[in-house]
Amino acid sequence: MEATQEKYDFGVVKAFCIMSVVYLAVGTLIGVYAASELAWPFLNFDIAEITFARLRVLHTNAVIFAFGGSALMATAFYSVQRTCGVRLWSNKMAWATFIGWNTVIVAAIITIPLGITQGKEYAELEWPIDILIAICWLMYSFNFALTIANRKTSHIYVSNWFFLAMMIMITYLHVVNSLAIPVSLFKSYSIFSGVQDAMIQWWWGHNAVGFYLTGGFLGIMYYFVPKQANRPVFSYRLSVLHFWVLSFGYVWLGAHHLQYTALPDWTGSLGAAVSLAMIIPSWGGALNGMMTLSGAWDKLRDDYILRFLIMSLAFYAMSTFEGPVMAAKTVNALSHYTDWTVGHVHSGALGWVAMVAAGAIYHMITRLWNTEMYSNKLVNMHFWMFTLGAVIYITSMWVSGIMQGLMWRDYDEFGTLTYTFAESVAAMHPYYAMRAIGGAIFSGGAWIMLYNVVMTIRMANARSAAGAAATA
Ligand code: HEM
Ligand code: HEM
Repeated sequence: MEATQEKYDFGVVKAFCIMSVVYLAVGTLIGVYAASELAWPFLNFDIAEITFARLRVLHTNAVIFAFGGSALMATAFYSVQRTCGVRLWSNKMAWATFIGWNTVIVAAIITIPLGITQGKEYAELEWPIDILIAICWLMYSFNFALTIANRKTSHIYVSNWFFLAMMIMITYLHVVNSLAIPVSLFKSYSIFSGVQDAMIQWWWGHNAVGFYLTGGFLGIMYYFVPKQANRPVFSYRLSVLHFWVLSFGYVWLGAHHLQYTALPDWTGSLGAAVSLAMIIPSWGGALNGMMTLSGAWDKLRDDYILRFLIMSLAFYAMSTFEGPVMAAKTVNALSHYTDWTVGHVHSGALGWVAMVAAGAIYHMITRLWNTEMYSNKLVNMHFWMFTLGAVIYITSMWVSGIMQGLMWRDYDEFGTLTYTFAESVAAMHPYYAMRAIGGAIFSGGAWIMLYNVVMTIRMANARSAAGAAATA
């Protein structure tokens, strides 16, 4: 293992790993507070900086870009070196990416609570920060691609394809969607307007989901599931098919976010039809991951890290079944604008994204520091808290969302609405309280992970210091 440490550039991977765990704990805690504000609005305390509107944006940026981004950078830089048998093309550039990315996060933490945003979902940050994001992302992508170009192996392992597709797509989606005219250091206006703005925004929004939260994390899955299970992926051919079908299919889906709007009707129909088709590659991929364990399911009994990875695939299958259903126009007429969407988002985000990332990070921590985890019991406890928290969150939002949709469309015999909007808000209260509790359990799991990771690193460092003293 020591030889492996020297053979690769793992310092920067360690830094990204630690930061992703920190951001997961903090980002979910902000989510819990935002969720609690919806259940108990007095928690706003009339302070503009912590109102729901601002904390929500802080939460999405913290979990998607701070946690998700750091996890993607850690895993991509780790697996590309292992699968290509070479060091990073530039260790210095990787460190510059680390510093730049964390600077973006600090800038987000300052500007979002102050209400400085472009008002575009998942693309809120103002233009100077957008430029820094583009620079960091390009450094990350170039370094990754050139490491592959230097590889000692003859072929490029499938996880690298998923990472590469994410890097290429996110570069041009981010750049095009962020095109804006600055009027001051903190204010800019999008160059798109009206319906074009909406279309470009959701072309970005959906593909951020498709290539970043799905494609990138599939890259993680295809490397870490076989590694942790210590078996080759069930069908390599299926993984390549999964890659090509998803990459060609996902780019057509954005309009399913804009059903029944000013967009031409056919765009929504196209989005719905291709969404439906995506069940096939998504389920193929999920089964491929799960079947990697075929004949060795007993490993799940005591390998807690593997449990995270396999459970994430179950949630991946669930959310990629639910998404296409919600894209159908008749279902979307009920689900859009309701908490059902929020439930769907979190079945993907908590069950798939956070779960697979946690499994991968635990795997890397044990290898990078050449140690067992400080406490395997805590890993197991974390697993159950994530599972339970996610299930409570998702089910409460399903009930609340479907109830909202049904209350809003209910008419009496005179053709007037049966319920006022305020009545529907009051009816949500128990489910919002339940979501906050589920979220708190989930976030508790993330804090336990942080504690366990810190203790593991301290234990490993103390051991190597003692080893060094003994040899001296
Ligand atoms: C403890 C865990 C979490 C809690 C309690 C939580 C809570 C929330 C709340 C209250 C909202 C606002 C919903 C609304 O506008 O009505 C939200 C939105 C969102 N969260 Fe979370 N969240 C958690 C974890 C995560 C994670 C880990 C991710 C991503 C990896 C994530 C991604 C998102 C996204 C993308 C949205 C926007 C949803 C939409 O626009 O429909 N969340 N979250
Ligand atoms: C085949 C796969 C999928 C399809 C077809 C799909 C489809 C959809 C649809 C129809 C919506 C609701 C649009 C609306 O009414 O506004 C939606 C929202 C969303 N989905 Fe999925 N979904 C899929 C998988 C996933 C996965 C795996 C994630 C992972 C995190 C995810 C994250 C999101 C997010 C963040 C939103 C909310 C966007 C917003 O309004 O802010 N989806 N998806």
